[in-house]
Amino acid sequence: MQKPDLSGAYALDGPDSCRRLYADWADTYDQDFAQDMDYRLPAEVAAAFLRAHPPEGPVLDVGAGTGLLTAALRGLGFQGVVDALDLSEEMLARAGQKGLYRDLIAADVTKPLPCAGYAGIVCSGTFTHGHVGTEALAPLLAAALPGALFALSINDVVWRDKGFGPAFAALGGQITGLDRAEVAIYGQAAQGKDPAHATDKAQIVTFRKA
Ligand SMILES: C[S@@+](CC[C@H](N)C(=O)[O-])C[C@H]1O[C@@H](n2cnc3c(N)ncnc32)[C@H](O)[C@@H]1O
Repeated sequence: MQKPDLSGAYALDGPDSCRRLYADWADTYDQDFAQDMDYRLPAEVAAAFLRAHPPEGPVLDVGAGTGLLTAALRGLGFQGVVDALDLSEEMLARAGQKGLYRDLIAADVTKPLPCAGYAGIVCSGTFTHGHVGTEALAPLLAAALPGALFALSINDVVWRDKGFGPAFAALGGQITGLDRAEVAIYGQAAQGKDPAHATDKAQIVTFRKA
């Protein structure tokens, strides 16, 4: 079996291939991917979320994977309740071992969600090639309380190719205060590990549900 990696992840073509890839990647993701690539995106999203002054209340970490984004939030002092949502049971199991979350929710974010009532929605690394596009915005808005703060990373190329600009514009009065900033997804170490992706960028988008 080929070792799971970023190229394999970018080539995913649906929920079944996604579940298979992340079942194989869950045990090694934190070391082989996050540490070796100096993966900075979870920390960038966590910082953007806290800078924007989230309201009190539970937060949903979407495509939580092994829990790196919520670990970054905790590292920055965030003590609120966070639930993890992910398609992959194996990634959620790894996240669960870290003791960061109230609930672990196995669900597809592109479909109506089995959870609601969130004051914050955060997501790193899931709006990307082969994963999730604009179709996840409506289920996430439905799961959020009025005034909820969103902080989402969206791969820069996916932002353009999947029409995120027009999709946010089409939300009109459903959201307020849309802001975005470009960040590097990886640090310097990525050049040695995976030069093809080392300089990839993401947009970090923050906004509130009206
Ligand atoms: C690149 S990982 C990012 C994990 C974590 N947020 C991080 O930054 O390390 C992408 C995650 O999104 C999850 N995922 C992909 N498609 C999904 C979907 N449709 N619904 C929910 N989770 C999904 C995968 O199972 C995987 O755990």
